[in-house]
Formats: sequence, structure tokens, C-alpha cells
Amino acid sequence: MKTIEPGDLRQYSDVLLTRGGEIVTLRFVEVTDAAALQTYFRNLSVRSRYNRLMGAASELPVGQLEKFIHVGDGGSFSVVATMKADGVDRIVGEARYALDEDTARFEFGLSIDDGLQRKGLGLALLSNLACRAAALGAETLFGDTLRSNDAMQALARKAGFSFVSTPGDWKQVRFEKRITIVPQDIQCASWRVRAELGAYAPLVH
Ligand SMILES: CC(C)(COP(=O)(O)OP(=O)(O)OC[C@H]1O[C@@H](n2cnc3c(N)ncnc32)[C@H](O)[C@@H]1OP(=O)(O)O)[C@@H](O)C(=O)NCCC(=O)NCCS
Repeated sequence: MKTIEPGDLRQYSDVLLTRGGEIVTLRFVEVTDAAALQTYFRNLSVRSRYNRLMGAASELPVGQLEKFIHVGDGGSFSVVATMKADGVDRIVGEARYALDEDTARFEFGLSIDDGLQRKGLGLALLSNLACRAAALGAETLFGDTLRSNDAMQALARKAGFSFVSTPGDWKQVRFEKRITIVPQDIQCASWRVRAELGAYAPLVH
């Protein structure tokens, strides 16, 4: 069976567009992104960081950073959205996802740089995640967010998610949606990896 090394994932990236047509690249995170990813989290507004990490923190806790940068470890994947400024790529968003193969449920969390919020990037990233979920064979897409996080709930509502209580945590609400797309409809890196490797090959090993 053909497999893929994490290092090969560099070639798989997607393009997202802001509503104004600005180009944003979405790619799997790399170990060398550690410092830039931490800078991204430090530069989020207190509110955005609180909402993303579901608690007060001035940065991504070191243990979590380690997990974020090792794509595929423990079945979780991180992607970063980058934009070119003065010839240099800057991280302007991120998402982390995992598939539970037993339940075919795909869980995710995401954030967008405060300066780029309300430009359609969150919605574009969500569509891309739905494609990745479909490519991995997921049937349901879901995430948990704080009940006070109006922006995430508005985004989820706009993207057609419905809401249920988060089991065991009254401060959170779960948004979820059945996956109806076939990955080819919205192209994404995971779909291409799957197509090239064959449907049942592991994404990384
Ligand atoms: C939630 C978040 C990802 C939304 O990203 P975004 O790029 O701003 O979202 P979009 O521009 O694609 O918004 C799409 C729609 O969602 C809704 N929406 C998004 N942010 C909103 C806000 N602050 N208030 C009200 N509605 C909002 C709107 O309907 C919006 O469409 P519109 O701009 O045409 O009105 C972003 O606010 C964020 O990163 N927050 C901090 C981290 C976080 O909360 N993550 C979620 C934890 S799982």
C-alpha cells in the first residue's frame, strides 16, 4: 500500500479567497512553523484567544503547541492559513481537526486573525474543513464553542450547522452538521491526498 510521509504534505495546499479577493494559502502545519504559530496566537486579541482556547491564556500552552505542529500525531491535523505581506508569508488563521473513525465524526476548531475577521475567511475555511472531513470518510462535522461566543455561533448558523448541548459542559454549545458534499465538489488537499493514495490508505503514518 502506498503511504505518505508527513514531509510530503508540503505539496498539498489549498487557496482560500477573502470576500475582497485576497489570496490566502491553506496548508498543513510544519514543525518549522512553531515560532510563527505562537506569534499568531500571541497576537490574537484577548477575546479571540479566549474564545479559541476556551480559557484565559497569553499564548498557546507549550504542550499544545507541540501537538499542533506535529501533523497527524494522535490522529489530529493542524492547518495554517498564510498570506504574503512584503514577500513574507504570515499566518493569518489556523484550524485543527480530528476524525473519530468509530463514529465517523469529524471535530474541529478554528480561528482567524482579528484584522481579517468578517471578510469571509472563516466561512471559506469551514467549507474547506467540510471537504477534508468528507475526504476522510466522516459523516458528521462538529465543534464545541463557548455559549458566549456569538461570532462562532453566527458563523456556524450561516454555514447551516444546528446546535445541541455540549455533553458535560453547560458553558459550551455544540454545532454540528451532516456531511452531504462529495469532496470533489470542493477541492481540498485531503481529497487530493486520498485520491492519489487510494481511498483506504492512511493519510500519514
Ligand atoms: C469565529 C471566527 C472564526 C469567524 O471568522 P470570520 O472570518 O470573521 O468569519 P466570516 O467573515 O467568514 O463570517 C461569515 C459570517 O459569520 C457571521 N459572523 C462572523 N463573525 C461574526 C460576528 N463577530 N458577529 C456576528 N456575526 C458574525 C456573519 O453572518 C458572517 O457573515 P457576514 O460578514 O456576511 O455578516 C472568528 O471570529 C474568530 O477567529 N474568532 C476567534 C476564535 C474563535 O472564536 N474560534 C471558534 C472556536 S471553535
